[in-house]
Amino acid sequence: MSFTKVCTVDDLWEGEMESFTVNGHDILLVCAEGGDVKAFQGICPHQDIPLSEGKFDGQKIICRAHLWQFDACNGKGINPDDCALAEYPVKLNGDDILVETEGVAPLFAHS
Ligand code: FES
Repeated sequence: MSFTKVCTVDDLWEGEMESFTVNGHDILLVCAEGGDVKAFQGICPHQDIPLSEGKFDGQKIICRAHLWQFDACNGKGINPDDCALAEYPVKLNGDDILVETEGVAPLFAHS
């Protein structure tokens, strides 16, 4: 496993999301309520829309295009519930946020 530094904790406040390209992967970093940092695929599993253009309320990521919703704790679809975001392993090293991209591929859902 090799983790790549993406940003620092100062770049991502609680309740915020931010998109990054890491080793060719579009990644959405979110800092959920409670301070947990998670990394998910940056593109909606429905169609080719960056999730960073949507909304994040601290618990749910909401795609701007058709309002699909995803749980920021685990990437699972809330509505609809038969889809999910691929999750990337995250590690903190001091103030640095690192992500592992190897072996993770974005998921796509029914249309
Ligand atoms: S493209 Fe995201 S909900 Fe349709």
